[in-house]
Amino acid sequence: MIIVTGGAGFIGSNFVINWIRQQKTPVVNLDRLTYAGNLNNLAELEHNSLHHFVKGDINNRGLVKELLNEYQPRAIVHCAAETHVDRSIYHPENFIQTNIVGVFNLLEETHAYWKQLSEEKQKGFRFLHVSTDEVYGSLTKNDPPSKEKSYYAPNSPYAASKASSDHLVRAYHQTYKLPVLTTHSSNNYGPYQFPEKLIPLIIVNALQGKPLPIYGDGLNIRNWLYVEDHCDALRTVLAKGTPGETYNIGDQHEQTNREIVNSVCSILDELKPDSPYVPHSSLIKYVKDRPGHDRRYSLDCSKIHNELGWKPKQMFKDNIRKTVKWYLENMSWLENVVTGEYRDWIRAHYVERGSHD
Ligand code: NAD
Ligand code: DAU
Repeated sequence: MIIVTGGAGFIGSNFVINWIRQQKTPVVNLDRLTYAGNLNNLAELEHNSLHHFVKGDINNRGLVKELLNEYQPRAIVHCAAETHVDRSIYHPENFIQTNIVGVFNLLEETHAYWKQLSEEKQKGFRFLHVSTDEVYGSLTKNDPPSKEKSYYAPNSPYAASKASSDHLVRAYHQTYKLPVLTTHSSNNYGPYQFPEKLIPLIIVNALQGKPLPIYGDGLNIRNWLYVEDHCDALRTVLAKGTPGETYNIGDQHEQTNREIVNSVCSILDELKPDSPYVPHSSLIKYVKDRPGHDRRYSLDCSKIHNELGWKPKQMFKDNIRKTVKWYLENMSWLENVVTGEYRDWIRAHYVERGSHD
């Protein structure tokens, strides 16, 4: 039994599905269902007894304690977070509350639970903290890729909140010996990503003939990782990682935003030849830059390759095509998310468990 937090979000839902398919062991999924959490992501697990969904907040210590005592997990995979950089610029409060205070609350309850386990169970327990490459800050074109020991230089309130939580997680290992693992992943793409993030946003707008906004000159560089590869990497780190260590996860496929948007447009041209918006790239619009926009992220992933034997399985060009196709084949999911219709369904079907402390 493991507990996954944020398992109704993009990476969390992919992880829960991946875990149940590969490991075939139970998952308790704790998610507050913010605007980014969507139970439709987990539709294929609706009748699967290995998946147990609990609507609740990681800040609700009473609930977290109850779940730990009830389910006696051997690991926590912590994915819950506020994740969109643009939102953090204009409304940072939730980022502090979930990404910093929430992690503190989760660590406190996890530590209390872990302390009373038998010595053998304590040894086997893991707290896996899913973090980001953004904590290393912005690189120039000629800087070497960030390593796990590179210094922290977060630039957005989002990145700063994740950096703070990384430090808390580290401190619980150094001070209390809690067996923690931290991963730093690059930008993910794939099914079930909320269409405020670049790739699904471009797909949604292109299908509707709306402008495709590229911030600034569009030459910012990101390193794109297919979400399924990320999930496999997280399972590998959980199984083989050394407590107290941190691991970079990426596929070293660096691209400018212009390149990414143009690739998505070409795939759409091919898959939707009858669209009135072909060529979709004609919809591209350069807009005002994101304040403090990081120029380049790049990860050195040799540690996870050499020590744990993980490498991404598939090529970017195949995965991006698969991703665009997935959105086209799942238009109802997309429409549901865009209109917020799924929220009515949640309101009708789920009652939040426990009260807020
Ligand atoms: P997401 O925004 O799609 O989902 C976040 C989930 O967390 C949602 O289901 C939301 O309801 C839930 N949540 C938010 N606050 C909560 C709270 N207080 N209590 C319980 N649940 C809460 O996020 P994502 O893109 O899937 O990211 C997951 C994790 O991976 C995050 O920690 C993020 O920092 C990290 N990460 C993401 C990427 C990426 O490219 N998406 C890359 C690197 C790291
Ligand atoms: O690097 C890992 C991070 O990747 C994660 O930690 C974050 O949770 C995740 O949101 C993502 O952050 P980014 O800011 O890199 O992702 P986003 O999709 O918002 O933007 C990707 C790039 O595209 C970035 O350089 C900004 C740019 N962009 C984004 C949007 C939404 C645009 O040019 N236009 C847009 O409309």
